[in-house]
Amino acid sequence: MQSFIQYNPTRLWFGEGQIKQLHQELGNDGKRVLLVYGGGSIRQNGVYDAVMEQLHNRQATVVEMSGVEPNPRLTTVKKGIELCRSEQIDLILAVGGGSVIDCAKAISIGVYYEGDVWDIITRKAEPTRSLPFGTVLTLAATGSEMNNISVITNWDRNEKRGWSSPFAYPTFSILDPAYTKSVPLDQTVYGIVDMMSHVLEQYFHRTEHAPMMDRFMESVLLTVMEAAPKLVANLEDIEHRATIMYAGTTAFNGLLSSGTDGGDWASHQIEHGLSAVYDIPHGGGLAIVFPNWMSHCAEDDPSRMKKLAMAVFGIDATGKTDHEVAMEGIQALRQFWNSLGAPSQLGYYGIDDQRIEELVHKSFMKPSIGQYKIMTRDTVRDILMRSL
Ligand code: NZQ
Ligand code: ZN
Repeated sequence: MQSFIQYNPTRLWFGEGQIKQLHQELGNDGKRVLLVYGGGSIRQNGVYDAVMEQLHNRQATVVEMSGVEPNPRLTTVKKGIELCRSEQIDLILAVGGGSVIDCAKAISIGVYYEGDVWDIITRKAEPTRSLPFGTVLTLAATGSEMNNISVITNWDRNEKRGWSSPFAYPTFSILDPAYTKSVPLDQTVYGIVDMMSHVLEQYFHRTEHAPMMDRFMESVLLTVMEAAPKLVANLEDIEHRATIMYAGTTAFNGLLSSGTDGGDWASHQIEHGLSAVYDIPHGGGLAIVFPNWMSHCAEDDPSRMKKLAMAVFGIDATGKTDHEVAMEGIQALRQFWNSLGAPSQLGYYGIDDQRIEELVHKSFMKPSIGQYKIMTRDTVRDILMRSL
């Protein structure tokens, strides 16, 4: 196990009815609030009304910014920054899924940066402060509600970039699983794939002797795999919504990679390239790419895939090579995601090999990608070709 610091300043309010905590969270900061949300789902499922009731009780002045896109765009971030400045906002409240929260993070940082916020997203400039912001989560997937990561797309350049900052943790996040009951089947499944992928990215580390982390991760995967089919069969089941919601947060709030090298994350970079060019849902891209990354890497070193196959998918290793066990585990993962309704080939989104070189290029938004296996252009191309 490596040395580590465990630090997460986000106050998490979890459970049905926790929206009432918004009143006290508004505290002294929330006099002029920028309410950030997406395409309108919160107006249909009652979440908007519940939030507004709290804001009005507190006599906050509310400025609304709706229309944050799935795969949120730089242009929308800039619009939010302008609104914060012109309206003298003192707190941002993001109500939605990962896209809305990621957009709010970039706005909160960009308000205090004189230059172009893209400098921060591309890590050319370091932020020094941010406007306080909180979240009301409506979709279990990214973990953005309790981490300091944000992913923003510059659509003019077809670049989707992840960035992080110590100033990008939400001050508070309110997680009411009932707010996720209206998430449609496809987005529910994409969220499940995304959170499992976050665990898997971290599982593919090369740190010796990290049994606590390995078993935490196996436990999250097993728990999600137990709840997911039941939830997909009944999208209104509040207990399974709750399990999946907390699993999504736990999957990516820093806990699981404490003491390891942090894991691989190449599949995420490749998926971000796909979304940057084709604007596909993040979880859908991962369902396609991740098993192909695994089978590609298992050819050199199947050790962690074998461990996963045995611990999570119950594969019997007797009389089999490590590679055979690894491949059975990968197949079981693919089948599990398919059984929920997730795609397994890029053709599902109408993607063929026409722009493959561009996809390879867009995967390398960082100088180096991958850690379990460091990627080259050839290895990324191979993974994409397997995914067609
Ligand atoms: O826009 P609205 O109307 O809110 O509808 C959304 C959107 O269409 C809908 N939705 C959300 N809550 C709902 C609901 N529909 C009905 N009922 C509800 N309660 O779901 C659609 C997708 O929402 P989105 O926020 O885009 O999904 P998700 O949470 O999966 O976020 C995806 C984004 O997060 C990034 C992804 O790359 C992508 O841009 N990621 C962020 C990470 C982070 N910050 O840590 C890590 C991830 O790996 C990921 O890259
Ligand atoms: Zn993800």
